[in-house]
Amino acid sequence: MTPIPPNRTRGFTLPEVMVATGIMTIVGLMIFLVLNSGMVLYAKNTAVNTAHQQARAGVERIFQLLDLRPQIADEPDAVELPEVRGEIELRGVRFAYEERPILDGLDLHIRAGERVALVGASGSGKSTVTRLVHRLLDPDEGQVLVDGHDVRLVTLQSLRSQVGAAFEESFLFSETIAANIAYGRPDATRAEVEEAARVAVPTTSSSSWPMASTPRSANAG
Ligand SMILES: Nc1ncnc2c1ncn2[C@@H]1O[C@H](COP(=O)(O)OP(=O)(O)O)[C@@H](O)[C@H]1O
Ligand SMILES: [Mg+2]
Repeated sequence: MTPIPPNRTRGFTLPEVMVATGIMTIVGLMIFLVLNSGMVLYAKNTAVNTAHQQARAGVERIFQLLDLRPQIADEPDAVELPEVRGEIELRGVRFAYEERPILDGLDLHIRAGERVALVGASGSGKSTVTRLVHRLLDPDEGQVLVDGHDVRLVTLQSLRSQVGAAFEESFLFSETIAANIAYGRPDATRAEVEEAARVAVPTTSSSSWPMASTPRSANAG
């Protein structure tokens, strides 16, 4: 019989009983003890355990997101939006988040090339208007048109590749400025990236802002 370990005060373990009664061999018991101590060590290693649990929860969440079906998708007979000139029209647009009305019959007509500022208190619905234009949201009533095309009737790809939005809370990857500007079109040429920067910030000149070589821009920094 193996001696009782000092921290054990009563009884025998099942494997020990099995050895004593001949159901398990000594070799079997040794294998059991080695495997068992490994399991106990693993369970006690809370750092490994916690990291494992967190990684598992993270992976499950990622797959849940990947499995989501977007509520806004192409209509079966959606057509390609031709090259955009820039006319935007909202006709009698009503929109509510859940039960909360935000836009109550908005009419808006912006001609191609025109610059328009929507001014209003924080939370009045300005960003909601832009989300309707590239169809992150659909209106409850009314129509949103780009160059006269109802955005519901064109493919999302052709719409969103031509209508951009720069929100106040942009995310910057820890990359060069040029790579951050071009992340939606990794094949964009240096000249195209500089043109995009110049349109966004008219005072930009390529010599004063070495975008490709500027080491790293980082989020919130
Ligand atoms: N996804 C959302 N779900 C519910 N309410 C939202 C959502 N997005 C915005 N809102 C609410 O809708 C209102 C208008 O939001 P928004 O268009 O972002 O306003 P603005 O850009 O004018 O500050 C705000 O009260 C905001 O809290
Ligand atoms: Mg906003």
